[in-house]
Amino acid sequence: MINKIKSNRREFFKSAALAGAGLVMTPTLAMSSGDKPRLNASAALPTRKLGGLEVSGIGLGCMSMVAGTYNPTPPKQDMIAHLRKAVERGVTFFDTAEVYGPYGSEEVVGEGLEPFKGQIKIATKIGFEIQNSQRMGRNSSPESLKRVVDGSLKRLRVETIDLLYLHRWDPQVPVEEIAGAFKEIIAAGKAKHWGLSEVAPDTLRKAHAELPVSALQTQYSLGERFPENQILDTCEELGVGFVPWGPTLRSFLTGRFNEYSRFDELDRRSQLPFFSSEGLEQNMPFLRIVQEWSQKKGITMAQFSLAWLLAQKPFIVPIPGTISPQHLEENLGALEVRFSESELTEIRSEIEKFDLLGVRTKESALVDQ
Ligand SMILES: NC(=O)c1ccc[n+]([C@@H]2O[C@H](COP(=O)([O-])OP(=O)(O)OC[C@H]3O[C@@H](n4cnc5c(N)ncnc54)[C@H](OP(=O)(O)O)[C@@H]3O)[C@@H](O)[C@H]2O)c1
Repeated sequence: MINKIKSNRREFFKSAALAGAGLVMTPTLAMSSGDKPRLNASAALPTRKLGGLEVSGIGLGCMSMVAGTYNPTPPKQDMIAHLRKAVERGVTFFDTAEVYGPYGSEEVVGEGLEPFKGQIKIATKIGFEIQNSQRMGRNSSPESLKRVVDGSLKRLRVETIDLLYLHRWDPQVPVEEIAGAFKEIIAAGKAKHWGLSEVAPDTLRKAHAELPVSALQTQYSLGERFPENQILDTCEELGVGFVPWGPTLRSFLTGRFNEYSRFDELDRRSQLPFFSSEGLEQNMPFLRIVQEWSQKKGITMAQFSLAWLLAQKPFIVPIPGTISPQHLEENLGALEVRFSESELTEIRSEIEKFDLLGVRTKESALVDQ
């Protein structure tokens, strides 16, 4: 079984490399007279709009560039090189948060992307209390939001943040007051656009009425589809972009694991029922669909999973998190994949037959998380 999966992955990678060779332009960074690298137009990837913000159709999630989620902290210089390679490949959208690290992800993103200031878009998130480098509870008091944004600006080495999200809903503070704080932050020139994460459609509506929201960031993938209950429709109606986090379902959809996989206690997956031995046993058969469709399309499982998300709505911009240059390259290949309407209908009827263990209920979409 393990060997079979391994050999399938080798085949997928082979076809990804071949597909990539034909599909993706090889860009370079050009030097301007001031020695500041500028983006080469030939590197451009297809773009998408998040409200008024235009970004590459796939972004780069930078959470695991520091320990605390899936892997130990990788060498900083490797991550800086990885970020710069991503820019070279045409990625113009980078996702981080104050709480990743805390602070470390913003710091590496700031250092890595400093040479491209103004040419790429950085999104970060605030709204957790951090004490002694520990993440505490939520804190969306306007005073706190207006204060902590200065730390993010400093770590990101920018004068303005392209997209500033409220990381998590704080039930202590009315959404109107939160919107008011973001309005002041934007008026002060410290951010250009704002967004929310993991909120219910009603909260998004109220927030948008106070101050137009550019993006909602919420978990969404082939396997975790609760946003299809009113969240995506609300975004569409309001003209709000949608940024799915966990677009590979924390790598499950890439075929990286099997029913025997076990996770280190420092890996967040070790705490999730989805990745428990019982969860993996129930969930693995779902991958047969992903595997079969990937083979049919001549792409990898990661590419299939990301391309499926892109095909759901034109305002969706997935941000797969990866610290691997090879995975980044593979993931960008998804931008070239197309599905016919009948393929999408067929895929949907197949995925809806499955009951996955450890995914959220449809009803959870209507509750602020
Ligand atoms: N708003 C929120 O509350 C929230 C919550 C969580 C995350 N996020 C953001 O969303 C981003 C993405 O979410 P996520 O990292 O949780 O989920 P994800 O992107 O679905 O999964 C990340 C995992 O997938 C692996 N991976 C990525 N591409 C791969 C490929 N082609 N083949 C095999 N494995 C692959 C990564 O390992 P390698 O590094 O080895 O490639 C990593 O272990 C984060 O970086 C963060 O910026 C936001």
